[in-house]
Amino acid sequence: MFQQLVPLREDAILGLMAMFRADRSADKVDLGVGVFRDLSGNTPVLESVRRAEQLVLSAQTTKTYVAPAGRAEFNEAVGELVLGAAHPAATGNRVRIVQAPGGCGALRLGAELIKTARPQAVIHLSDPTWGNHAPLLGNCGLGLATYPYYDPAAHQLQFTQMLASLELAAPGDVVLLHACCHNPTGADLDLAQWRSLTDVLQRRRLLPFLDLAYQGFGAGLEADVAGLRHMTSMLPESLIAVSFSKNLGVYRERLGALIVVGESSPQADAIRSHVLQIARGIYSMPPDHAAAIAAQIFNSAELRAAWIRELEAMRSRITGMREHLATALNERTGTSDFDFLRHQQGMFSQIGCSAEAVARLRERHHIYMLTDSRMNIAGLMPDNVAYVAASIAAVLAG
Ligand code: LMR
Repeated sequence: MFQQLVPLREDAILGLMAMFRADRSADKVDLGVGVFRDLSGNTPVLESVRRAEQLVLSAQTTKTYVAPAGRAEFNEAVGELVLGAAHPAATGNRVRIVQAPGGCGALRLGAELIKTARPQAVIHLSDPTWGNHAPLLGNCGLGLATYPYYDPAAHQLQFTQMLASLELAAPGDVVLLHACCHNPTGADLDLAQWRSLTDVLQRRRLLPFLDLAYQGFGAGLEADVAGLRHMTSMLPESLIAVSFSKNLGVYRERLGALIVVGESSPQADAIRSHVLQIARGIYSMPPDHAAAIAAQIFNSAELRAAWIRELEAMRSRITGMREHLATALNERTGTSDFDFLRHQQGMFSQIGCSAEAVARLRERHHIYMLTDSRMNIAGLMPDNVAYVAASIAAVLAG
């Protein structure tokens, strides 16, 4: 059966994690995989999560199944966190939410749903996008295309080109959008751009599929979903894949949700029934542990306030490192070329060097980033930022 299978190359991000682990240098710096790191380089369990986890464990009397859609009180809280209570689709009873195994699980559920409803639909991805979008969305057999998004040389959005490209998409096609903290560029749309984009999607009858993996890491819990809320309140149908890996720090527990907005309440029920059948055919039911923790946090005023404080601290550490790196690189190069780092959001930015320069950074300086020069800003520390800036300046100088 399997004799014809040859070993595949490892996923770029996971492969880089393994290379970093194997590096014995004391100077090594991990700017690869997108996980938050505190000042000791750890990816901590949040205190609010720890407290909620204790409550969950002490109250738990059974491990029996919860439900195919996951935990109801978690799903309800997710709707409020992402869309807000006053969202017209929420007040119109057109929203359905299904808990999923991570944001990846939610993306795949959404793709399978699109395949069920409209197998000829093409999903349009930003150029560039997160490396796992293509397999997650395309492996179910849907066609993929790209739209221009970002010019890495100018460190700028290509918004006019993006709109022009989407004007040519076929009605019924799908547009995958990063709701905030674009991965890998950190370059986000402003609200005026979200409005213009919404007009194009509305006129061209395109379905938005929003990937929300970093709510709270950009400008704040509410500000990070302002564009998403505008778009989903103007359009009849939308899909949103939510991840809690980063903002709750529950990465390995796999917590996410698929939010569907239907044209009407009966339509939303029909869509939900298909999502549940798809989930049943892949993994049956989502894991519960992190959903129970999240529900405790979201539904307790005290734990929620504690979580928001921790989230704000994570965000301000990343913004602080952006400032530090921009200043250090500008000083090293005698330019203001790196000011773009201050204006971008979230964990990632592409520093803008070639794949060869990225390899030199790794081999000579033990600094690990993705080949497209995406760096995880949360991997920088006050005591390594000068070293990283000096090393980047050295490889850029040739
Ligand atoms: C990343 O982009 O590095 C993270 O989303 C982790 C992953 O699974 O790729």
